[in-house]
Amino acid sequence: MGIIIRDLHKSFGSKVVLDGFSVEARDGETLVILGGSGSGKSVTLKHVVGLLTPDAGEVEVDGEVVTTLKQEGLFALRRKVGYVFQFAALFDSMTLAENVAMGLRRKSDLDEEGIAERVDECLRLVDLEGYGDRAPSELSGGQRKRAGIARAIATRPQYLLYDEPTTGLDPVTRAMIDQLILRMSDELGVTGIVITHDMDSAFRVADRFAMLHNGRCRFQGSPDEIRASQDPVVRGFIEGRPELLEKES
Ligand SMILES: Nc1ncnc2c1ncn2[C@@H]1O[C@H](COP(=O)(O)OP(=O)(O)OP(=O)(O)O)[C@@H](O)[C@H]1O
Ligand SMILES: [Mg+2]
Repeated sequence: MGIIIRDLHKSFGSKVVLDGFSVEARDGETLVILGGSGSGKSVTLKHVVGLLTPDAGEVEVDGEVVTTLKQEGLFALRRKVGYVFQFAALFDSMTLAENVAMGLRRKSDLDEEGIAERVDECLRLVDLEGYGDRAPSELSGGQRKRAGIARAIATRPQYLLYDEPTTGLDPVTRAMIDQLILRMSDELGVTGIVITHDMDSAFRVADRFAMLHNGRCRFQGSPDEIRASQDPVVRGFIEGRPELLEKES
């Protein structure tokens, strides 16, 4: 049933961030959302899990309108939707293993042994095997990022939102995270939204692309379509040529 974002409007004070943004991640696909810094990509993802409420418009996840859900409905929704936050958001007072297990305690029926097994499995998947007893403060930026991914996938959610999952990682680790995203999609049928500025990574994982610009969907289409796009805003972004964008905005 996928994730459908319909005509989303959101302002903070007098600053209009989303001005009628519509985009859809269809069932089983990975949608990559591109957009400049401050264009509202993270704000969009927060609407998908009900961390922000829109001024107008709605988000539908798995056939349910998020914006009308009450507390309990939101908890149920978040069980289905894993969220890799842009800034890892780990709890420093807990070990890495406890951070990863947190969602499992709240959202699954696993016993302690099952939880420990699942935590090990997820740490292995992000190449952090043996780091379970560390405190988040003892990890590097890239390790924290991967820990955030381990936590998001631990509950085996049907939907995954990745906010810049490869930012700040070395090329090898980036490729590893891309493979993980592909595996989630291919082997587990996860529907994903990936936000990234990393075009290599974007083309590796995307089934489809969307571009957020001036609060709206500027482009939506396949990897081939975005490669062939003549829109200067799209070209400027994927080729890293700001001069193309300036003429347009
Ligand atoms: N809670 C908030 N209160 C006020 N302003 C906010 C809030 N959250 C986001 N904004 C503003 O909304 C705009 C979009 O922010 P957002 O974090 O979505 O950008 P982004 O596209 O994710 O950028 P980046 O690529 O740098 O992460 C920014 O101008 C930001 O300052
Ligand atoms: Mg962001």
